[in-house]
Amino acid sequence: MRNKLIAGNWKMHGSRVANEAWVRALQAEPILESVELAVLVPAPYLAQMQQLLGGSTCVWGGQDVSDQERGAFTGEVAASMLREFGCRYTVVGHSERRQRHGETDVQVAAKAQQALAQDLIPILCLGESLEQREAGKTAQVMRHQLGVLLDILGEGGMARSVLAYEPLWAIGTGRSATPAQVQEVHAWLRQQCAETSPGLAENIQILYGGSVKSSNAVELMTLPDVDGALVGGASLVAQEFLAIARAAAKASQRTE
Ligand code: PGA
Repeated sequence: MRNKLIAGNWKMHGSRVANEAWVRALQAEPILESVELAVLVPAPYLAQMQQLLGGSTCVWGGQDVSDQERGAFTGEVAASMLREFGCRYTVVGHSERRQRHGETDVQVAAKAQQALAQDLIPILCLGESLEQREAGKTAQVMRHQLGVLLDILGEGGMARSVLAYEPLWAIGTGRSATPAQVQEVHAWLRQQCAETSPGLAENIQILYGGSVKSSNAVELMTLPDVDGALVGGASLVAQEFLAIARAAAKASQRTE
């Protein structure tokens, strides 16, 4: 059975004081056995997370990684550096980076390769824009995004990664995809993975991201092909993040 993962993507939010309060609030709550918690923070806060979360059940990670191992790449962060600060995960190919920084599918795959080489788990983000959805191109866009990842990372690399379906029109808009839309795409992604390997399809975790909050978490987390969430805005409030995690725990118990 696939475990659930609830990963908070803080994006460019946080401060040393606010981060510490967030961690303390998390640590005051009972441990959720059946759900893994992760927090993906801006790179300057990784050392603080390592210090505060070390030894706890919530792991941490980065929001991006360089597609290069080392060298003259001003402003970039190498996978080995994330590793050195105890990261377990890194987001790769978030739509905000694809859009604002022009990251291509091939570059996204190269970033994932760097992460994998350092034993980090890349959270590979995929998703269509509203325009693409309305033009009936969701499957075409996703087939391309996933196809490049499958080609470059291969079954072995994909088996050590997590997928995150994040429709662009649902990110930060307060308008989540409906449970039916989410399940349809997740099942389709799993089916595409099955064409490479049934074992991969069975085991790969597919997260949903896009306006996940405590009020819609229960219905989203109980969908058969949803293995957790990548949570942006709602993850900034520790109690919201915890409520989403509890919804995921409840959903896993139901399917056990
Ligand atoms: P959101 O962001 O939860 O604020 O919509 C999700 C994401 O971008 O990962």
